[in-house]
Amino acid sequence: MSDPRQAWRDTLKDLGVMGLVPEPADPGPRPAVLDQGPPAARARPTAPRPLPTAPTQASPAPPLQPAPREYAPPTGPEACPEPEAVATAATLVELESRIQGCLACPLGPGRLRFVFGEGDPAARLMFIGEGPGRDEDLQGRPFVGKAGELLDRMIGAIGLAREQVYIANIVKCRPPDNRVPTGPEAAACLGYLRRQIELIRPGVIVTLGATPLRELVGESAGITKIRGQWRRVRVGDRDIPVMPTFHPAYVLRQYTPEVRKSVWEDLKAAKAWLERD
Ligand code: URA
Repeated sequence: MSDPRQAWRDTLKDLGVMGLVPEPADPGPRPAVLDQGPPAARARPTAPRPLPTAPTQASPAPPLQPAPREYAPPTGPEACPEPEAVATAATLVELESRIQGCLACPLGPGRLRFVFGEGDPAARLMFIGEGPGRDEDLQGRPFVGKAGELLDRMIGAIGLAREQVYIANIVKCRPPDNRVPTGPEAAACLGYLRRQIELIRPGVIVTLGATPLRELVGESAGITKIRGQWRRVRVGDRDIPVMPTFHPAYVLRQYTPEVRKSVWEDLKAAKAWLERD
């Protein structure tokens, strides 16, 4: 009689997932009845046995789950723009046209629209969020949903219009279910954002929430602790002052006078820095 565990291993090998799927627990010694000769020689039970209510050790192998696959990005200059193509893009329009077909990370195939960023290409003040949500994915523009409405009001509160600043995100494609982008996803997109910053040459960057602070500035302390405290990021040949503040979506959830006052203070500090001379 063939060994069921060996058959299981052979199946995994055939599927190319050997080692990726955990082996079922050893069923232990097989019941003696299985070794009592050919089927005809065995006595049939007279009454049906009750079905087991829970899997026992000797249960058959579980159904095969699809093995988790590593994302293999397509190759080619459109799907995986070369760093050289990014570095030599001379304008934002040129950069966008070179990277908008990007499929370098698993977020690419899931997007509806590539959300490059928008605003004054020579803005003094730049806002960086986390990544597009549903509304942004539908429209191909950053911060156009509820959080965006609040961001517009925050910008207005310091005497500026949305068109006078630049708004971008750490990732340019929507993470599924609006989850936080993973480190590799952020890393795959960061070169694009850095080139964007090089071209815009903002005087101050305001990071919105923990993700841009971690991925762009390398600061992983909690945003509640760090907000309002100046940081710096080196981009190209410049050190750019960074003002970390809360993400507008957080402000909407914690709509307290304290949180709103904090954001107001942070934005005023950013504006004051730009007007200092
Ligand atoms: N949240 C973000 O971080 N970015 C957007 O563009 C929208 C919501």
